[in-house]
Parts: sequence; structure tokens; C-alpha cells
Amino acid sequence: MPFEPSQTGRDLVVVANRLPVDASVGPDGVVSWDRSPGGLVTALTPLTSQHDGAWVGWSGTPDLALDQFEAEGTQLVPVELSAQDVESYYEGFSNDTLWPLYHDVIVQPSFHRSWWDAYQRVNQRFADAAAAVAAPGGVVWVHDYQLQLVPAMLRALRPDLRIGFFLHIPFPATELFAQLPWRRQVIEGLLGADLIGFQRAGGASNFLQAVRRYTGAATRGPVVLDVPSDGAPRRVRVGTFPISIDSAQFDALARTPCVQERARQVRAELGNPDVLLLGVDRLDYTKGIRHRLQAYGEMLAEGRLSPDGTTLVQVATPSRENVGAYAQLRDEVDQIVGRLNGDHGTVGHSPVQYLHQSFDAAGMAALYLAADVMLVTALRDGMNLVAKEYVAARSDESGVLVLSEFTGAADELTSALLVNPHDIDGLKDAIATAVRMDPKHMRKRMRKLRRRVLQHDVHAWSSQFLDALASTADD
Ligand code: G6P
Repeated sequence: MPFEPSQTGRDLVVVANRLPVDASVGPDGVVSWDRSPGGLVTALTPLTSQHDGAWVGWSGTPDLALDQFEAEGTQLVPVELSAQDVESYYEGFSNDTLWPLYHDVIVQPSFHRSWWDAYQRVNQRFADAAAAVAAPGGVVWVHDYQLQLVPAMLRALRPDLRIGFFLHIPFPATELFAQLPWRRQVIEGLLGADLIGFQRAGGASNFLQAVRRYTGAATRGPVVLDVPSDGAPRRVRVGTFPISIDSAQFDALARTPCVQERARQVRAELGNPDVLLLGVDRLDYTKGIRHRLQAYGEMLAEGRLSPDGTTLVQVATPSRENVGAYAQLRDEVDQIVGRLNGDHGTVGHSPVQYLHQSFDAAGMAALYLAADVMLVTALRDGMNLVAKEYVAARSDESGVLVLSEFTGAADELTSALLVNPHDIDGLKDAIATAVRMDPKHMRKRMRKLRRRVLQHDVHAWSSQFLDALASTADD
């Protein structure tokens, strides 16, 4: 056995590629930790603290051997990744095979057998760590595409556990998933869970179809029947659980005087434009940043937007910079922004303010408040929490959300201006409608959006998932 199951282990164990804190190593070799930003951490750390829980994940730094430690009531269990693991498992199989494949092959996925070997090896390491820390009969919640083999590996080690899995990104159509040389093994890995959650109903039904095609197991509604196991055949439940944000916390943050003041400063520093458009994304080819810039550039050229009176603030957070497609995207966006500002700028004014950097939550909230129109034009996105943050920040009930129909958020935020980002003319028309929208109409839409985002927050999401997981015991 690769581990010593603890009799006094943890009742709730979260397993995710990243720990809820990021390590950084100073020049003196001293490791310091920062809380990772993001919804998952906000949602799950209160639960792991309350339930005597643990979180298994990578520190974010290669070749860093760390002992387990306790932080704010949660046992943090670091899984070490060597530089080679980072290259083959994280940058390779996770982000250059699965990520593009699961996002509709927007760029071509690479298939390498050595990356698959690394993916299996690293998934086993995560499963071993979870098996060692979970209490007898405990609950383990595994997250996302980097760890799809963990459920079955964990069940083989610890059949006593209740295992949930949630996929944060889309699950693709079977015609695309079919390309994966290891498609059967991935499905079998996931079927180690008692409950498998997806963002959208479409992802759940794509998965059920892949189960039927590649494992021969039968399905009845959202249940996979007769999954082979050591004992009696098992059932696996599949469900839809759209993730959200800590809406009340974001709403409160955006109401603070200091954030409101920062929002005013942002507008003032930009020369108080007539129209301020905003895009906020990780710099990722799934986000449709080029489509957005194309539409904006054409509107400036055609005089549908005034180059002097309009500013687009585009925040693009650095991401996965060692993966070729990301490096290439960065060059392309640099070039497009340069050309747009060159063609349409004046001595005192650049129509695109491009920020290749990260902002903290208060900085983001100030930008959301400053913006008249938020542009979310992803070509494919599991959810898109930026859309929900924008809505949560707008307690003034003004502002317009232009939202791609290819995001999970579009299923819920139906009062946004929904667009197909591939249709550049349609996107331009939606931006024009947003800019011209009268305040009464704007308020009506924003009120509906806020109702949904404030009601369905990340705490509702995690409790719905964990309740559904607990109820699989009755199956
Ligand atoms: C997406 C994925 C997450 C991932 C995040 C940031 O939201 O679903 O699993 O953590 O992107 O990407 P990174 O590669 O920096 O962890």
C-alpha cells in the first residue's frame, strides 16, 4: 500500500490541481504563501475548515518538497510536481491536450504518449495523497480536467469513501472527444466517482453518450448503471451544477467607498470617455479576445463608435505562458492592439487600454463599476465567472452585459445581450445596442441578472453538490 490510511483522517477532502494558497520562494529560500484568488477557494475553504477538512493540491512551484500544514482550520497537503511533471502533465496533457480538446478544438490538441504516461503518474500521486488523508467513510471532492483519473484510482485504494467529481470546463461533443486516444480510460477514471457534476446540461449529456459509446455501460436518465467494481456493480449519478461566485461578498466590496472612488479615478484617468467598454479575461484563446478587438476596430473605422470618445479597457491576465498556443496568442493580441491604437489613436488618447496583468478583487470591482458595457465574447467557456462578477458589482443597476452564448453563464444570464462571437456583424450590432440602451431598459435587464446571481451563489452551488453526493448513498 502506498499510504497509511489514518483512523483519525479528515471527513471532507478537496482534491484540486492547485492548493488554495500559492507558494513563492524568496531569494533566501524561504517559502511564503498567498491565498489564491478565485471562487473555488472562497467556496470551499469555509467548508473544509468547518468539517475538519483537507485540501490536496500542487503549490504552483516545480520541485518544491513541502510538508503538510494547517492553515485556517484546513489541512493543506502539497503534491510535489517536478519540472518534468509540470511540462508533461500540466503544460502538456492538461493544457495542450485536454484543454483545447474540451474547448471545441479552437486550437489543435497535441497527443503525446509520454504526456499521457505523466498524466497517469501524477493522477496516481494525487489519489495516493487523498487516500492517506481521508477519514474512514469520508467525502472526497475531486475537481477538474487535470485529475479525471483520480476517482477510479482513489476508489481502488479506498472503496469506503464517497467520491464526487466536478468538471469546471465543458465536456465536449462525442465527435470531438472521440479524437482522444485514451478516451475509454478517461471515462473509466471518472466513473470511479459516485457523482459526476457538469456546468451545463449539454456537458452531462455529452458525457452520458461517451459512456455508452466507449464503455458499453447502460444509462437510465442521469444514472450510469452497472459500472463494474470489485464488489457488486455500482451506479454513478451525473448532474448539472452551474458554479457561481460569492455574490454577496462581491456586491459588498463594490459598494465600499474606496472601490467607488477608485472607479471614479479610473474614468477620470481615461479622460472621462463617453463610452467605456471593458473586457477581463485570462489571456486564453477560448476567450474570443481577437473577435472582440476585430468588432471594436471595425466600429471605430466605420464611425459607429467615436475613436475620441470611446475607450476599451482590456485586462488579460497572464496564463500558461510556456504553452505554445498561449505565447502565440499573446503576440497576436499585442499586434492587434498596437495596430488599433496606431490607426485610431490621437496624441492624448488610445482607444484600447491593454493591461497584461492581474488585479486584486478590489481592483476588478472598480473596473466593473467604471465600465458602461462589459464584453464577454468567449468562443467556449465552462461558466465565465467574470460575467457574474460584473453583475454582482452593479448595485446601481446600470451597465450592460454583452455575453457569448457559448458560455455556461448564458444559460442563466438570459437578460444579457446574448451574442455569437463568430458573427462579427452581430457582435457589432450588440455593442451598438448596448451603448445606446436607455437607462430604463438597462435597469430592467440588470435587475433580472442580479436576482439570479445573488440568489444562486457559490455557497448554494457547493451545498447542492455535496447534498446530491450524500444522497447517492440511497441509490
Ligand atoms: C480554469 C480551470 C481551472 C484552472 C484555472 C486557471 O478556470 O478550470 O482548473 O485552475 O483555469 O488556470 P491554471 O492553469 O493557471 O491553474
